Amino acid sequence: MFYLYSKIGSCIFSGDILKPETYNNFIAPESIDWIITDPPYVRNSLNVFKGLIELAEYSLKEEGGMIVMTGQKYIPEIFKLMKSNSVHYCWMLAYLMLDENTKKSVNKDIHAENYWKPLFLFRKDCSKQKKFKDIIRCPKDNNDKKYHPWGQNIKAFEEIIEMMTDKDDFILDPFMGGGTTLLAALNKKRKFIGFDIDQNYVKIVNERIIRKLNFNR
Ligand SMILES: C[S@@+](CC[C@H](N)C(=O)[O-])C[C@H]1O[C@@H](n2cnc3c(N)ncnc32)[C@H](O)[C@@H]1O
Repeated sequence: MFYLYSKIGSCIFSGDILKPETYNNFIAPESIDWIITDPPYVRNSLNVFKGLIELAEYSLKEEGGMIVMTGQKYIPEIFKLMKSNSVHYCWMLAYLMLDENTKKSVNKDIHAENYWKPLFLFRKDCSKQKKFKDIIRCPKDNNDKKYHPWGQNIKAFEEIIEMMTDKDDFILDPFMGGGTTLLAALNKKRKFIGFDIDQNYVKIVNERIIRKLNFNR
């Protein structure tokens, strides 16, 4: 499954981060400016972080960077899986979900009512990072979970994109889910590539993009 939006030089497809043969044909080596993504961070999916760092090594330009959202629980395991000689951890940002209308999850083991998530900044060269603020506040947005049960806040992702990337940059989200990163990229006039292992979400995101492109005409 592959959808091309030739007028805006962007595409989405179904692919598996653990099977490079499913994305190699659509993503050229060292062609991506930023990976901005929200992988599944439950215990039995953690191996996707190994796939993610391998994709970053393969696809990021020398000046490229990556923002990865995770939960708090498995950070030590995630960092072990994301060891790399060419893509390095630079900093941590806080993604704040303080709006009273945003549903709070309570972690069952540690009983933490969760109000923020880490966003990890990686780069091939941390010294190339331009100035940024390391806190992102989610504004009120009732559409967060409309397209995916783990959907993120589009305004917050627009803010990340504006702060980190430049107009016409190529943004990749290999765990696109309901498409938050890609729609935010489209709104901010960046090019994008997205994929997801779940074909249902590829269809849902395609419909969102087509609706948005028709609306913008
Ligand atoms: C946390 S959700 C992303 C939600 C998205 N940020 C949004 O706002 O809608 C993670 C996504 O990763 C996808 N996924 C899980 N394993 C994958 C794999 N091996 N390769 C690619 N995608 C995968 C899931 O299908 C899911 O849609």
